[in-house]
Amino acid sequence: MSSFVDLRSDTVTRPTPAMRKAMAEAEVGDDGYGEDPTVNELEATFAERVGMEAALFVPSGTMANQVALRVLAPAGTAVLAGRRAHLIAYENGAGARNSQAQLTPLDDEDGRLDPAAVVRARAGSAHHLPSVGLLAVENTHMASGGRVVLPEAMAALLAAAGDLPLYVDGARIFNAEISTGIPVARLVSGATAMMACLSKGLGAPVGSVLAGSGEFIDRARVERHRLGGSMRQAGVVAAAGLVGLRTMVERLADDHARARRLAEAVAERWPGCGLVPDAVATNCVVFEHPDTDGLLEHLRSGGVLGGTIALGVMRLMTHHDVDDAGLERAIATLSNAP
Ligand SMILES: Cc1ncc(COP(=O)(O)O)c(C=O)c1O
Repeated sequence: MSSFVDLRSDTVTRPTPAMRKAMAEAEVGDDGYGEDPTVNELEATFAERVGMEAALFVPSGTMANQVALRVLAPAGTAVLAGRRAHLIAYENGAGARNSQAQLTPLDDEDGRLDPAAVVRARAGSAHHLPSVGLLAVENTHMASGGRVVLPEAMAALLAAAGDLPLYVDGARIFNAEISTGIPVARLVSGATAMMACLSKGLGAPVGSVLAGSGEFIDRARVERHRLGGSMRQAGVVAAAGLVGLRTMVERLADDHARARRLAEAVAERWPGCGLVPDAVATNCVVFEHPDTDGLLEHLRSGGVLGGTIALGVMRLMTHHDVDDAGLERAIATLSNAP
């Protein structure tokens, strides 16, 4: 796939030379005994960076979400999240399978959840509806084109949630930080727990990190084990994550600028596709197209790979492995699409 401009996802990035070096040189131990110094360093660095007490390295963003559900949402309770949130739409029903969660979709137009909908859902148990165990917020919100959930919106959701735990799926929360200049610690302030992925825009080959209170992380460690996600000499991959965290955050601004240019080209070619380029503030371009198969084939013939996230919905994502030359190729191919 390396000769293609690969816009299918920001997960396609390959580790940088600095990551490979750090991986080769990583000090390791058995993380099952808490003895991997590089994993411990990653967890401590991440917790401090996001303003939480403790953190846990997990193999994937999906596992971070699943562990959080198992710790925070009692079996059989409703888990409120956007109807297009990864937790609801893109984990193969894992919340139901692993946590007996009643995944309860809320409207997430423009990536926003309505606090009034949260209040209504919480009141439901007095009216024959399931009691609510958890509210999950995705920031950035992928399916709406990487929209950022700002602190004011979070504050309103926290107020609506009351004593309900609030979890942030922050797979791309560092994109939110770079786009707004608001530190992650402020973006997640008040949340019970959060996670971020190292394997997306930050370019690491593997891994996500979950963060919360010390007690939350103790319980999360047990649930990670139950799901088969405990690792041994995981410092080899944690080392790449540390490089990502320390050196790959600032550069996300380049991905955002390229995504904006891509969005402008899309909106110019298909003015009715529902895409507002000015609203593309991070690295994700989502738009409607009546013939996504045909468009994907056209892109492929021009050396460009794209993807879909629903019937008739295209997604193009910028990342570290797409440079200006690649972007120009993508724009030219999009612009001459039939
Ligand atoms: C918002 C969001 N959350 C979670 C995940 C899951 O991450 P992973 O692919 O590492 O399981 C993704 C993956 O794309 C995502 O977009």
